[in-house]
Amino acid sequence: MKIFAYGIRDDEKPSLEDWKSAHPNIEVGYTQELLTAETATLAKGSVSAVVYQQLDYTREALTALAEVGVTNLSLRNVGTDNIDFEAAKEFNFNISNVPVYSPNAIAEHSMIQLSRLLRRTKALDAKIAKHDLRWAPTIGREMRMQTVGVIGTGNIGRVAIKILQGFGAKVVAYDKFPNAEIAEQGLYVDSLDELYAQADAVSLYVPGVPENHHMIDAAAISKMKDGVVIMNASRGNLMDIDAIIDGLNSGKISDFGMDVYEEEVGLFNEDWSGKDFPDAKIADLISRENVLVTPHTAFYTTKAVLEMVHQSMDAAVAFANGETPAIAVKY
Ligand code: COI
Repeated sequence: MKIFAYGIRDDEKPSLEDWKSAHPNIEVGYTQELLTAETATLAKGSVSAVVYQQLDYTREALTALAEVGVTNLSLRNVGTDNIDFEAAKEFNFNISNVPVYSPNAIAEHSMIQLSRLLRRTKALDAKIAKHDLRWAPTIGREMRMQTVGVIGTGNIGRVAIKILQGFGAKVVAYDKFPNAEIAEQGLYVDSLDELYAQADAVSLYVPGVPENHHMIDAAAISKMKDGVVIMNASRGNLMDIDAIIDGLNSGKISDFGMDVYEEEVGLFNEDWSGKDFPDAKIADLISRENVLVTPHTAFYTTKAVLEMVHQSMDAAVAFANGETPAIAVKY
């Protein structure tokens, strides 16, 4: 049995090699190239393809893959928003993702960034770098004094809540699909409007599905407290970034943290040293002392990368054996 993996980065190779040693009877081929209509032929002779990319899994790419006889597709990440599911259905693709590779990776990062925003570390670091060791005016706010609105209480949101509770923050939560453990703690409010009205800081943990597109727009921001802090490590399309920039300009939003950006493909995980950013909005946001931008690195820990590779490879084998892995995507 042969499995072919696309888009393998150097930092994934140790985890892949590790998996290969534990499965000596399975042949594994891989490439750094992403899955496209042109590269689909590389998987010829394999039973499953293992993939990760932010580039769309287009009808053309899926058709080309099906044409070389591969209709098992195991994603190494959680998000499935870039798959043409209509085309996948036509060719009867079996698809899996890795919904739980390490919720802590993303939850921790988002809470570190929220803490940094509250303690104004970007401004403080800039002062220190200029040899200015005075305290004022970079006075911070304490987490335990904040009411934090957590939108989305899936695996990642729930870890974020635990971290917030460790800090002593008051948590209010909202989810269309409430979680029993969070309900038991009495953390849910009935609507997003209620969460916006109560929260000093808002952090999001929901998928980038069409119904969540630009959920944080001018109307939502207008319902938030003056001086609200917003943190988004989920999906870029949750934010209407123009409304965020307007909110920062007016002071309605005091601080903003983003690990994801709607226009991040081709921008994040690229080296722009010595060059201007090709995107004026990101250049503007990065230049602000009250904005923290990270290039979709919340997930990027050794544990998460290992789980992404190992779980997707296991699922690829399961599909090839005619089984349905627990992480198969229902669509
Ligand atoms: C996902 O798993 O969908 C992510 O957002 C992380 C990705 C950049 C690997």
